[in-house]
Order: sequence, then C-alpha cells, then structure tokens
Amino acid sequence: MISLQSTHALLDTADTAFGRDVLFGLSQPQKQVPCTWLYDHRGAELFEDITLLPEYYPTRAEVRILERSASLMAHFAGPQATLVEFGSGSSRKTPLLLSALESPAAYVPIDISAQVLLESVVGLQGRFPHIRMNPLVADFHKLKRLPGMKSAGRRLGFFPGSTVGNCGPEEAVDLLGKFARMLGPDALLAVGADATQDPRLLLPAYDDSRGVTAAFNHNLLWRINRELAGTFDDVGFRHEARYDAVRQRVEMHLVSRHAQRVQVLGHEFRFARGESIHTESSYKFGPIKFQALAKRAGWTPLALWMDDASRFTVYLFERSF
Ligand SMILES: C[S@@+](CC[C@H](N)C(=O)[O-])C[C@H]1O[C@@H](n2cnc3c(N)ncnc32)[C@H](O)[C@@H]1O
Repeated sequence: MISLQSTHALLDTADTAFGRDVLFGLSQPQKQVPCTWLYDHRGAELFEDITLLPEYYPTRAEVRILERSASLMAHFAGPQATLVEFGSGSSRKTPLLLSALESPAAYVPIDISAQVLLESVVGLQGRFPHIRMNPLVADFHKLKRLPGMKSAGRRLGFFPGSTVGNCGPEEAVDLLGKFARMLGPDALLAVGADATQDPRLLLPAYDDSRGVTAAFNHNLLWRINRELAGTFDDVGFRHEARYDAVRQRVEMHLVSRHAQRVQVLGHEFRFARGESIHTESSYKFGPIKFQALAKRAGWTPLALWMDDASRFTVYLFERSF
C-alpha cells in the first residue's frame, strides 16, 4: 500500500480521469477500477452481446415491462415531453418510449462511451426524423446541468438497464438527487432496477458459459494497456463473479493467477497470487428499499411494474421538491 502523499504524487502523473482512477484504484488495499471504464467502444459492444445471452435475464425482463408500461408513462409525461436518457448505450429500449410519447420535443441521450452514443443516435434519427436529438458525451456523476432545451412539455428522465445498481445505496441517493436537480421542476423519472437475490440466477448472469462477460471484464486490461501504457498480461488474470449476500450485490473481479508486477503510466503495481481488481458492483435493490432511496433523493413514487418472476422492476417517479 502507498501513502496518501505518494498517492497524490502518483495521480499528478495521470492527465485523464481514466488514468487518475486507475492509478488511485490500483493503489488501494482492495485494488479496484470504477466500472464506468469498462465501456470503451469494445466494452460497449461486448455489453450488447451480454444482453442477448440466455443467462442475462435483466434486459429481456425490462423490455417486456416497458412494452406494458410505456403508454401509461407517456400519459403522465403529456405532449411535447423531452426524454433524457442516462447511460443510454445502444438506446435499444428507447424506441418503446419515443413511440408511445405524444409529439415528443427532443431526445437527450447521455453516455460516457462516445462512439456507441453517436452510432445509436444516427440509427434513432433515421427512425424518428421529427424528434430533435441532442446527444451528450459525459459522465453523469459529474454532469451539473443539461444543455438548454426549451420545450413546453415535461422532462422525462430514463435510467434503464439496472445501471443504478452500479451505485451503493448512498451513492444512488446522491445520483438520483443530481438527476432531480438536472431535470428540473415537474420532471418525471423512469428507472429500471434488479431485485434478484438468488445466486443460482445471478452468478451465471455475470459469468456466462460462453465467456462473453469474462471478455467484457478482461477488455478493461486491454484498455489500460492501450490507453495508459499498461503491461497487463491478459492470461495472467481470470474473471470471477461473486455474490455478497450481506451487501446484496454481485461483484466482478479480475483475479491474478500468480504473483506478478504490472506497470501503468510508468508506475509499478504488485499482485499476489489470488489478489484481485474489483471492477464492478451490481447492487440488487428490492422495491421497498429502492423507493425509500428515491424519496430521499427528492422523487415521489407514481407507479411500478414488475416482470412475471418479480425480479426486475421499472419505477416511475415524479419530482417532489
Ligand atoms: C449497464 S449499461 C446499460 C445500457 C443501456 N442503457 C441498457 O439499458 O441496456 C450502462 C451504460 O451506462 C454507461 N455509463 C456507465 N457509467 C457511466 C457514467 N458515469 N456516465 C455516463 N454513462 C455511463 C455505459 O457506457 C453503458 O452504456
């Protein structure tokens, strides 16, 4: 472990947020990298492949719920609404809402992954030529305000894909509060969250038999090698999904197969055999807990819809301050 002072000196050598996060995260007693950095272009492609896997139930469950709930959401939103999607990725679920809304004024997809964001907007614009599209490449944790969007209608925030589960409870309150302030008075927010607690379903969903999730996780090492002059030996690490029943979260790790040393931006990091980098947490929030978190963030529950197995939930909230 390195001291706080040397951590500061270390971070000075990184001139990107990615570099700073990796140098800081690899200096911690439990090595870690925020899951946001899994999504470079290749990572976003691999995530799309994951959503098609038989083991990955959340996407299918959420699409089925949106098919049933989009018209009621559109009713609440009213005419000329602006749809603002956080972590939009491929925007595969978006057409369900855009088709249901009455004369939507604009669509504002926000994602950290520029190429996928732009590709998906081009596809959507072809399908919805009359809707103004304002894509925004940004980290939604750091975003303070949305680009000026003048419209007579309400703003409907959309946060699908259980991406909120990448935050722990307190971070989720903080993020949902930011969304409330960004979306402004009278806004609505639709959020998809997973409540599954059964490790027999969760572990295959995060460690599939074809190894796609493993490739998604390993891609982070390739990205560090490419963008941060890293020397990770990909085969020296193995993907592992773990379920933490106390914290109610699935964790993804990259576990070192043997003792090794790795360089990143000229700094050396040592790994013992079996030591891991924690690359993603996926918290599983049940409806009572999730609605309580959202209330603390300034959102009043209006409706919720569950899939047939009562695992996945889509919530609709209204701003309460
Ligand atoms: C779990 S995927 C969900 C994708 C899509 N919304 C869906 O429902 O299938 C998370 C998405 O959020 C994006 N993302 C992750 N962290 C982000 C951040 N801090 N700021 C903006 N986008 C982020 C990723 O690039 C990715 O597209």
